This record gives sequence, C-alpha cells and structure tokens, in this order.
Amino acid sequence: MTRRAAVIGHPVAHSRSPLIHGYWLKSHGIDGSYGLFDVAPADIDRFLGDFAASGLVGANVTVPHKEAAFRAARELDPVAVALGAVNTLWLEDGRLCGANTDVHGFLANLDAAEPDWTRALGEAVVLGAGGAARGIIHGLLSRGLDRVVVANRTFARAEAMRAHFGPRVLPVEWRDMPATLAGCQLLVNTTSLGMKGQPPLDIDLSALSPDALVTDIVYVPLVTPLLAAARAQGLATVDGLGMLLHQAVPGFERWFGVRPQVTSELRELVLADLAAKGQLA
Ligand code: ATR
Repeated sequence: MTRRAAVIGHPVAHSRSPLIHGYWLKSHGIDGSYGLFDVAPADIDRFLGDFAASGLVGANVTVPHKEAAFRAARELDPVAVALGAVNTLWLEDGRLCGANTDVHGFLANLDAAEPDWTRALGEAVVLGAGGAARGIIHGLLSRGLDRVVVANRTFARAEAMRAHFGPRVLPVEWRDMPATLAGCQLLVNTTSLGMKGQPPLDIDLSALSPDALVTDIVYVPLVTPLLAAARAQGLATVDGLGMLLHQAVPGFERWFGVRPQVTSELRELVLADLAAKGQLA
C-alpha cells in the first residue's frame, strides 16, 4: 500500500517539502507520496487529535502549527521537549509521536559545509530571539559552546532565552551591535531581516574575527545581504538552504525506512525551483 506523508501548515502552498521528499521517493524507487495539507488554525487540534484518520503515516508541520503538534504528540523527542515545538510527526502503534528536526537541520548544514566549525569555538552570536533562534541556541549549546550571545531588537525576548536556557546564554541589546561582534567567530542570523521583501540586515561586520563563519537561516534570497557583505570581507559563509534540506532527512527515514542523502543534485533541484519563482536573488 502506498505510504503517504505530507506537510501541514497554513498557508502551505509555498512549501518546498514536496519537492524534497518527492525527489527522494523517486530516487529510492519507493511506493510513497508526499503532499500538502492546508489546515486552518481552528481545525488543527481536531485534525491532529485523530491523525490516523488522515491516512498519513506521518507529516512535517510548519507555521503556525508547530506548537499544536507539540501538544498533540503523545511521545516527544528530547529536542521537541526542549523547544516546545514539533515539526515532524509519525505514528507508532497508533500513537502520535513528535520530533523537532530543525536543530538537526541547522547543525548538519554547518557540519556538511564546514566540518571543523566547532573546533576551538567557545562563543557564538545569534541575532534574533524568536522561535527559530530558540532551536539554534539549543543546538549550539548541545555542541558544548561556553556561551551564546543573543542580540535582539526586543531585549526582553533575548532575556527570555537566558531564562529558558540558563547562564550560558548572554542577552545583549541590539544597539550594542558593533561591540557585540568584536572577535566573534560564528555569527548566525535568525531574524527575518534580509528575507525577500524585508529590510536588509545592515550591520557592520568589520569587527568579526578574520576566521569567522557567518550563516543565515534565510534562504530567499539564497545570498542575503548579510552573506554578501561577509563574503565581500573574505569571511566564510553558509547559506540557509542546507538547513531546509537537512531538517527533512529524519522525517523521510521515519516514514519510508530509508535514510536519504542531501546531494548536490537535490540542492540544484531546489535552486532551480527558487530561480523559476524569481526567488534566487
Ligand atoms: P521566528 O519564529 O521565525 O523566529 P519571530 O518569532 O517572529 O519568528 O522572530 C523574528 C525575529 O526577527 C525576532 O527576533 C525579531 O525581533 P523582535 O523580537 O524584536 O520582534 C526579528 N526582527 C524582525 N524584524 C526586525 C527588524 N526590523 N529589526 C530587528 N529585528 C527584527
């Protein structure tokens, strides 16, 4: 019987997940499908409460339903527990299980691009303090960093990250930016600044360490103004597309029983889709 999975969101039509999972289904010759489920906020608790009725073996969950998926899952992986958000669901003996693979996606993307990135890295600077930042801070702390500096426009949200994660998180004011970046070896943008249609993230990178790595979770455009500025300064950069590709791996393995690879062919496929929609630049 064809195994069916999908991404659940609202809206969800823009999701690249069908492209990614469709590529893996085809390349592994698996009898499966991956579709889109647009579920309105008013209906999500009912939908997840009887997930088996959907006929899906599992699903990805995207905005704005990650917290609802967290509440609905009977079993949770430790990352989902730490973040209070689930982006991957599956059924086990009829029980709904949930995981958060965004952290894996972020870390695996850096591992693939710069295998040595944690070596001698004591501290990182994270820009932003929303849901995406929470996962990334969790991931960085899990790799043993001594300190994660969190700069956010709304300082109280940066302080909330320290309250959640403890003293290894240092909240700083957004306006202290130039000083915050002095000697920084890893800079991560989790804000929406630089995304197509948003203002650029316009900060002075000259104080960063010359061996700094700069990464952005925004991938539309692929080379954000932040990454372009970092490259112009000769710094290493990692774009955000790899995070999207890597976060998909654990779900596919759960639903279809094969651990897929993030290949350059897959990346090219998604890049071609971005280009076709005018979102590459
Ligand atoms: P997500 O869950 O995707 O992280 P979010 O919770 O809306 O989304 O967080 C967006 C992040 O971008 C926040 O850190 C936000 O800063 P505030 O907490 O002050 O809102 C940041 N952000 C958005 N627009 C910004 C801007 N113009 N200048 C600085 N930061 C901005």
